Amino acid sequence: MIGVFDSGIGGLTLLHEIIRQLPNEQYCYYADTENVPYSTKSEEEIKGFVEKAIQYFLSRNVKAIVLACNTATNVCVEDLRSRLEIPIIAIQPAVKVAVDHDTSELDAQRKKILVCATPITLRSSRFQRLVDSLNADGIVERMALPELVKLAEREEFGEEAEIYISQTLEQIDIAAFGSIVLGCTHFTYFEPIFYQLAPQLSIFDGNEGTARHLKNILGKLNLLSQKTENKLSVEYIESGKPTQNLARFERYIARIEQLT
Ligand code: DGL
Repeated sequence: MIGVFDSGIGGLTLLHEIIRQLPNEQYCYYADTENVPYSTKSEEEIKGFVEKAIQYFLSRNVKAIVLACNTATNVCVEDLRSRLEIPIIAIQPAVKVAVDHDTSELDAQRKKILVCATPITLRSSRFQRLVDSLNADGIVERMALPELVKLAEREEFGEEAEIYISQTLEQIDIAAFGSIVLGCTHFTYFEPIFYQLAPQLSIFDGNEGTARHLKNILGKLNLLSQKTENKLSVEYIESGKPTQNLARFERYIARIEQLT
């Protein structure tokens, strides 16, 4: 079984891509419904919440843990990897994909990249290291959109979100940008609104790359399920307990299916 963790329903967007790439595995999706959104919590609180989820996964004997939450990754992943033997695969904003996408040879022609994420992700040293490693400090603009986490949790994907996102895009000189990176798994639900408001920009999230990375790691460790042996199953856990509201998860999954 593979454990997939998010503060809430954002990580379902990554789970969906993981299942597309690894359709013969058993999954346990842990949403920390009691504590979402993490962006308003302290780092110490987030470490405590994530630890509870990790202990749950360990009690279920999972073979790998996926942190499908950029915010939790930025706060906890190094500590978790230093303590645990189990593979921890973590999402991070797809800045590299956006940098590679722009093939301009001259710096002056490089388009800017708008990275939308939670404030915790954007101010983390891990994110800064990522930007520095890509030599992208001059072209990355950070935009914190914490309201999108709340709107996604409330299943509000309509007018309010559209107004919030359009007010955000009004703050930048859009002609200077080539792409938007959705650096929070909750934001993928709003991809159609970003496309509608900024059709000239490419939009990236970390889902495809993270799922591919998980597949590679499991392959290298010889941990992939064999087709004949296993079939897909997904369990949904909310803050340590099996969900009492499966219909809610199914509504999100139906929405993700419409995105692809
Ligand atoms: N899905 C989380 C992320 O990718 C949302 C964080 C939150 O709960 O505020 O960052």
